[in-house]
Amino acid sequence: MNKQYQKIYDVVRADMERVDNCLLLNPELQPELDSELENFLKAPSKRIRSLMTILYLRASKMYLLPAHYELLASVELIHNASLIHDDVIDESKLRRGRKSLNAKFDNQLAVISGDYLLGEVLKKLVKIGSIPVIDVFADTVKSMCLGEVNQYFNKYKKTDIEKYVEKSSQKTASLFESALKASIMLAGNDVDDKSLEFASNFGLAFQIRDDLLNIKNSDTTKSASDLEEGIYNAPVILADNINDGIEKTKDLLNNYVNCAKLCIDDLENSIYKKSLIELLELLEDV
Ligand code: IPE
Ligand code: MG
Repeated sequence: MNKQYQKIYDVVRADMERVDNCLLLNPELQPELDSELENFLKAPSKRIRSLMTILYLRASKMYLLPAHYELLASVELIHNASLIHDDVIDESKLRRGRKSLNAKFDNQLAVISGDYLLGEVLKKLVKIGSIPVIDVFADTVKSMCLGEVNQYFNKYKKTDIEKYVEKSSQKTASLFESALKASIMLAGNDVDDKSLEFASNFGLAFQIRDDLLNIKNSDTTKSASDLEEGIYNAPVILADNINDGIEKTKDLLNNYVNCAKLCIDDLENSIYKKSLIELLELLEDV
């Protein structure tokens, strides 16, 4: 976590620690695997989906209930399960600067571990006890799979930017959206279009940034290369030559960041709103 991110995180540190406390699972698979799975969950994650959601709720003066922390822990578990499965799909040996679960063990154990986390998610959501909230996450898990399948069937194809945005929306932005949507529902408020649009733009900007880092080879904590795998993202789709693809992708990223900023323009000024803007600006720093 860089210094500026740390500063933003500190604004809601107490909330973030409560989310982390809900992530202590005590898995009951097998001692060696249990400790690896716990280490994986504790590995340096930005917890950016929770951070975005908590800052937004606080900036909107909504109350956070104990169930919100369980809900955000569920979001982080869905995210972690998707990473474990993603590393199997991409045959990636490195995650968060450490050996991925498939590298440490094998694909079989990694698949089961991801499924186990999804089982934990179901337990948590049932405990929260809201069928509409469960429905939000059922749609999201389906959407994340659709995005991945969509990507699979477009391997080695230079699609168009609309298809790229659709895929990114399914595989990444949908979880940011549902984290915020379900949290607002849990706070007993109406979910307005602006907040959904905010989370969607935020999630898209986040994925575009990740794809830029991947093509520039500047994320040393992961090992899979999209280009080598035949996954052609915005920097390739928009390119006439590679440098110009990167520049055009940065423009696309800035566009989503600006759209997200506009969505929170009406929120009253506060340290939380300021932090959300700073977080968005951090995404532009590639
Ligand atoms: C990486 O997610 C995968 C994408 C959706 C781009 P994060 O960058 O949020 O992963 P951690 O939790 O911080 O390691
Ligand atoms: Mg992948």
